[in-house]
Amino acid sequence: MNRHERPVRNRLNGDVLWYKDAVIYQLHVKSFFDADGDGVGDFKGLTQKLDYIASLGVNTIWLLPFYPSPRRDDGYDISDYRGISSQYGDIDDFQAFVDAAHGLGIRVVVELVVNHTSDEHPWFQRARRAPAGSPERDYYVWSDTDDKFAETRIIFVDTEKSNWSWDPVAKAYYWHRFYSHQPDLNYRNPEVVEELLDTMRFWLDKGVDGFRLDAIPHLVEREHTDNENLPETHALLKHIRKKLERKHPDVILLAEANLWQQEAREYFGEGDECHMAFHFPLMPRMFMAIAKESAKPIKTILRQTLSIPDECQWAIFLRNHDELTLEMVTEAERNFLWETYAADKRARLNLGIRRRLSPLMGQDRRRIELLHMLLLSLPGSPVLYYGDEIGMGDNIDLGDRDGVRTPMQWSDRENAGFSQAAPPKLALPVITDPQFSYAAINVAEQDDDPHSLLNWIRQTLRLRAEHAAFGRGSMRFLKTDNDSVLAYLRECRDDIILCAANLSKTSQAVRIDLPDMQGLVPVELTGETMFPAIGRQRYSLTFQPYAYFWFKLTNNGAATS
Ligand code: GLC
Repeated sequence: MNRHERPVRNRLNGDVLWYKDAVIYQLHVKSFFDADGDGVGDFKGLTQKLDYIASLGVNTIWLLPFYPSPRRDDGYDISDYRGISSQYGDIDDFQAFVDAAHGLGIRVVVELVVNHTSDEHPWFQRARRAPAGSPERDYYVWSDTDDKFAETRIIFVDTEKSNWSWDPVAKAYYWHRFYSHQPDLNYRNPEVVEELLDTMRFWLDKGVDGFRLDAIPHLVEREHTDNENLPETHALLKHIRKKLERKHPDVILLAEANLWQQEAREYFGEGDECHMAFHFPLMPRMFMAIAKESAKPIKTILRQTLSIPDECQWAIFLRNHDELTLEMVTEAERNFLWETYAADKRARLNLGIRRRLSPLMGQDRRRIELLHMLLLSLPGSPVLYYGDEIGMGDNIDLGDRDGVRTPMQWSDRENAGFSQAAPPKLALPVITDPQFSYAAINVAEQDDDPHSLLNWIRQTLRLRAEHAAFGRGSMRFLKTDNDSVLAYLRECRDDIILCAANLSKTSQAVRIDLPDMQGLVPVELTGETMFPAIGRQRYSLTFQPYAYFWFKLTNNGAATS
């Protein structure tokens, strides 16, 4: 059968609200596993490693961009929306991957860079040659001067001086919110909207389960605004959702909108825009909470974002493929976080920190676990970044954000077991510095060690999967007499989980207010140990540094109901 005759693939059947129970594993095809030995990861390699991904206990994969691209922004500069970068394989390999993932009950969310293309995209090449004012030219945003939209901030402050660049062929300036080789598409042009919908249909026919919509606050521009979150952008998203939903009610839109909580929340609309949105303000506050040994940063931000439309869900994360962005904190907080976590200035990029989780935590297993306990129990669906499950390190000597995108460390064999190519051919060098070297930190070794971080994550994800309350439950902060302890209840019908975490580097005691819980017996989830019943007094707990508990509240050991 030739690829054009392919039947439309079915997505996994089931609950349309599946994303509420999603545990998402984010990865780069390029860096995961190289099956053909050319030094670059590929879809065949990824398919071979699906059993590993399933073994983690995640149920959704988010793929970083895999489209043809000059790769000047690691694939976020797309030159063809309907293909696969030849280094990663072809469309049949992609299809085989999606089918195999579905066979294991794993859903696939793909990255869709909607705001801009590469300047090598045929649309841009056509646009710059087309007459001014023509529909072809109008695929992008042009101006005769570079002082239009002066209120708009620059995002990549380390590299870009302006959001406009001169194009000598068009003899006009084009608009770009990111790198100058990434011209912004013009969504005021209905043809561009149609192109986007066609692209989505193309991938839907391959069976994908969702799209991460990159950089969506910037889709539409208007003069005398800051060009972020315009009503026109929200109207466009509602239009896309409506079109999508008609045939694909179970496919999700995941918003990348790096914004303050009130604005980010708007990307849910009234439940008629994106199904999910990344919680950017929460992320740095988890790091802040540990650094300040205080529950306040987390409580304050979450209190403001608990109420979202019923069918929507936050995507929460600790690290991803970008710098740990500090855009959604105050300047004083940013300086504090920089000083705490990026004393070495080479680790700073734009308004963030280009480091992985384990180095950020000084390889301290207690803090790595504590952050994961938060990630897996705060409201939202957690997103894990490949390699963090084994505590992989980074390489700040590599440029841009490449240092956090190095090859997955599978074993202590050559190239970390990632590829059989000669080392200079690798997509990126493997980590060799002694502290984080693949010789010491790799999947094979941690697989065999029941106490490894990898196996701890597997066990913790298994526990989480047994309780609907984590993905779907309500959230209630509990009063305590100790600001270093964060305590909250996650409740879904008779599933009541009490979470408590000591954010401090010293041992702590706490008394927690548990009104209306008198008589219930907390059973610690990992060991199923019964703790003293909740009495009339506030509930007392003591903690080692950075320790945590997840308790199920039961009727004398049995489920409540
Ligand atoms: C998003 C991506 C980032 C990329 C940028 C421009 O922020 O996460 O990796 O560089 O968009 O496409």
